[in-house]
Amino acid sequence: MQRFIDQVVLITGAGSGIGRGAALAFAREGAAVVVSDLNEESGQESTSLIESEGGQSTFIRCDVTDPKQIADLVQSTLEKYGRLDIAINNAGIGGNIAKLAEVPEAEYRQVLDVNLGGVFFGMQQQIRQMLTQESGGRIVNVASVAGLRAMPNNSVYTATKHAVVGLTKAAAMEYARQNIRINAICPAFTHSGMVDKLFALAPGYEQKLLKNIPLGRYGEPEDIAQGILWLCDPANSFVTGLALPLDGGMMAM
Ligand code: NAI
Repeated sequence: MQRFIDQVVLITGAGSGIGRGAALAFAREGAAVVVSDLNEESGQESTSLIESEGGQSTFIRCDVTDPKQIADLVQSTLEKYGRLDIAINNAGIGGNIAKLAEVPEAEYRQVLDVNLGGVFFGMQQQIRQMLTQESGGRIVNVASVAGLRAMPNNSVYTATKHAVVGLTKAAAMEYARQNIRINAICPAFTHSGMVDKLFALAPGYEQKLLKNIPLGRYGEPEDIAQGILWLCDPANSFVTGLALPLDGGMMAM
């Protein structure tokens, strides 16, 4: 039995990694998936992958650092499918490995614009639409274990992910009575474009970091997608304001 038949799901940063994993998983459960990404080629590729499995999908390009493009993205979703049931604010960037005193101003602003601005302005548009729907809606923001604990040498990333957890909790309280459930996930290191780049930058890092994951392996996009689907599943309608670690046990250490 498919869990999300004909539900309209919008995912930012869905051209790669966790976003693509979530897009495929929702489509396999019957959803119509709007794949959005800054990168048109990889976004179109996610849509083709879904269609090759018989799923429904549309690609809409959006740079989440631009609130106008985010508004257009939601509008185009409505023009195509008529409503927005689920939004996954996933687009994010890592920033370079450096101590706080060494972070260039431009990098600080870019990481904030993507990781925090993208989620804030995304939620604004998504919530405005969901408020008009009797069925409300569900939002999942992709934070990180770096939203729950420090990730040294990545202070700006850590700050943005803590902020995403805070935004999630505040918004969940504000809209609970309007039937909009808002949660965050907090993954640990998961194989994706971002993490593979990080491991390539710093030789030895991959083996070193594995010691922090009790299950003894890195996550795969499918592992994280299953957590996202769980939060959106109508069977879990009592869950809101949660920042759910998906971390191989890291936060229990
Ligand atoms: P990824 O690099 O594979 O995917 C990120 C996607 O976001 C890419 O397709 C990229 O084109 C897109 N993107 C980047 N800037 C954008 C912008 N301005 N507008 C629209 N799209 C943009 O990385 P991954 O790992 O799949 O990242 C997804 C989310 O998961 C991020 O928010 C990241 O912080 C978070 N995360 C990832 C973890 C990991 O270990 N992979 C762990 C914890 C959190």
